[in-house]
Amino acid sequence: MGLLSGKKILLGISGGIAAYKIPLLVRQLIQQGAEVKVVMTPSAKEFVTPLTLSTLSKNPVLSSFTATDQDNPTWNDHVALGLWADLMLIAPATSNTISSMVQGRCNNLLLAVYLSAKCPVFVVPAMDLDMYSHPSNQKNLDALKTYGNKVLPVGDGFLASGLEGKGRMLEPNEIVAFVVNFFNPELPLKEKKVLITAGPTHEAIDPVRFIGNHASGKMGFALAEIAAQLGAEVFLISGPTNEKTKHPSIKLEKVVSADEMFNQVKKYYDTVDIAIAAAAVADFKPLNRASQKIKKQKGLDTIRLTPTQDILAFMGASKKKQYLLGFALETENEIENAKDKLNKKNLDGIVLNSLRDENAGFAVSTNKITYIHSDMSINEFPLQSKLACAQNIFEQILSL
Ligand code: CTP
Repeated sequence: MGLLSGKKILLGISGGIAAYKIPLLVRQLIQQGAEVKVVMTPSAKEFVTPLTLSTLSKNPVLSSFTATDQDNPTWNDHVALGLWADLMLIAPATSNTISSMVQGRCNNLLLAVYLSAKCPVFVVPAMDLDMYSHPSNQKNLDALKTYGNKVLPVGDGFLASGLEGKGRMLEPNEIVAFVVNFFNPELPLKEKKVLITAGPTHEAIDPVRFIGNHASGKMGFALAEIAAQLGAEVFLISGPTNEKTKHPSIKLEKVVSADEMFNQVKKYYDTVDIAIAAAAVADFKPLNRASQKIKKQKGLDTIRLTPTQDILAFMGASKKKQYLLGFALETENEIENAKDKLNKKNLDGIVLNSLRDENAGFAVSTNKITYIHSDMSINEFPLQSKLACAQNIFEQILSL
């Protein structure tokens, strides 16, 4: 059950370069359980194809007032579309479409649907920075607000023109967060704090070399994203990773070593309601870190290792009100080993990954998880995206 389960979303696409991101938006809305229908302006078809959108939305994509079926034109009923939707989302909304909406122009199907829609309308502007800040566009966006439409903010950053500044369309996940919030004013994790560890740790041998592992951070970042979408304030403590987060409710603390991760965890742990250890923390670190690069000629026969702090075990031992979830990556006797970890580390739940499952665990974007509760009840999930796994994980936590 997604957070948009049963919601009908009418997506209006106008012709701007940001339209290339809309297929991802369609997928994310559907992943959250929404039904999506698409109307697009004729110029939007220059940027993204109706075939892509109809394949992803599993609904016909409309862009003209009539459809031709065996030489018989039929009317694409804009009134019915407007009445069907629980929410109309116009993304990207270009300067041209926005000004037509303000003026009540009706020279394409998207505008006709907009003018006859009875449902709430979200407008997601996308423009170059000077165009966005031009008084005419600012005035038009204000006018849309007076019509009762919700105008979403724009992003700040790299623009298709090569310039940098305000005007970018929000990323699909940010748009989804607005939609989810709208339909779920009472979000299940509202006013809750969630701590998540993610990624690998790097344990330095000397200033240039380290001991590390292949963890990508994808699972921890997906958990943070879902926690934030569910309304939580998230503290994400991550080792070195290429993953990025933009959600305003996620505070990212970047660390390198297990010691640094432990220090950050101690800073937040007492204040949180849920703590999830998704990091692949190195179990050992070099006993001595050379202060200068170890030269090849000098040779290196051995590196003496010493255990790192088990961060999850520390959280289990000092647990008060927190729900504590660990991960177990196993290669044999998976369920038994995971149950054992759950008990030893005083956890409320453990997520098991088996390295025997293809495309699951480290580095890849998909995962296959088994959730074990402290009463030893077990739920198995199929191979799916890490975002979908994260959703299942929070459904398990919230089911308690
Ligand atoms: N973990 C941790 N700190 C460590 C090592 C592990 O917080 N120093 C956490 C991981 O984030 C994960 C859980 O402990 O949630 C399980 O890690 P795993 O390496 O599978 O288990 P270990 O306890 O290290 O046992 P082993 O390697 O012997 O299987």
